[in-house]
Amino acid sequence: MTRAVARACTNIALVKYWGKRDLALNLPAAGSFSVTLEGLHTTTSVELAAGNDQLVLNGVEDRAALAKARPVIDRVRALSGSRAALRIRSENSFPTAAGLASSASGLAALALAASRTVGLALAPAELSALARLGSGSACRSVLGGYVEWRAGVARDGSDSHALPFRPPEHWDLRCLVAVVSEAAKPTGSTSGMIVTATSSPYHAAFLATVDEDLVAAREAVAARDLGALRRVAERSCLRMHAAMLAGEPPLLYLRPESWAVIEEARRLQRAGVPLFFTADAGPNLKLFCEPDAEPAVARALQALPVVRRTLSARPGPAAAVLEEEP
Ligand code: PMV
Repeated sequence: MTRAVARACTNIALVKYWGKRDLALNLPAAGSFSVTLEGLHTTTSVELAAGNDQLVLNGVEDRAALAKARPVIDRVRALSGSRAALRIRSENSFPTAAGLASSASGLAALALAASRTVGLALAPAELSALARLGSGSACRSVLGGYVEWRAGVARDGSDSHALPFRPPEHWDLRCLVAVVSEAAKPTGSTSGMIVTATSSPYHAAFLATVDEDLVAAREAVAARDLGALRRVAERSCLRMHAAMLAGEPPLLYLRPESWAVIEEARRLQRAGVPLFFTADAGPNLKLFCEPDAEPAVARALQALPVVRRTLSARPGPAAAVLEEEP
């Protein structure tokens, strides 16, 4: 191919990944479990070019994004034997760097578009391991619906990739993102994970809970049991943040506005609205509910002064090629 365009959706972890056993290969210290979200996606085109690699993100040349993409680009060239430079154009359908895991959709779309451009047809597990080199959580965005990332044991990372658990149509959940800030997060996930792993006495305790949370998440999703998924998703999120808070320096990704949204979620739960919340390495909360509760949850969020806007998403598809030019 001379050019390929691919799209990948972001994903939100229901059992969190926070900690690496290998920094260079983005191998996780434990497994994680996520749902891929339609509507919050990255579309990436990759062309073979002369000169140097270039990455334009949302219309602006972005060297930091290129640095993050470097391990994926280098692996694609090594696998294919191609020496051509890559010209990459990427557009997000949602705000970059606002705790919405734009790196997950971005690196998954890049892995697919770049591998096709150089003529590689990778199996899903190989594509997932390729995306993982750019950003750990990107390995989950290669697949659609409900996804598990097995930590793996191999030192080369060959068995550390995402696996499909249930397709998107298995359970129509809605995810409402309560955007309280669109500012870039102060501490990126890689440096944040290092701080937590090296200084938080609670990091080992968090990691020790992951395996049983994975079992509980699989059971809750298989049974479409929102109450059971609430218990596991909220405790995984809060235990991850507890570990983050207990490091030196402490990582305060949740801001007062985030806690106001958590309080509102808990008020709605007490009023009988079935929902759960989760949050990642940023201040924006994600509230999950079934479709019939979505209007009430959206109204309650929009009425909160701290919420600038809400985004709505549902379980979405695997990464896909949109266009290919021979
Ligand atoms: O893949 P990274 O390096 O962006 O890390 C993602 C970390 C969390 O979003 C906080 C948790 C997760 O499992 O996605």
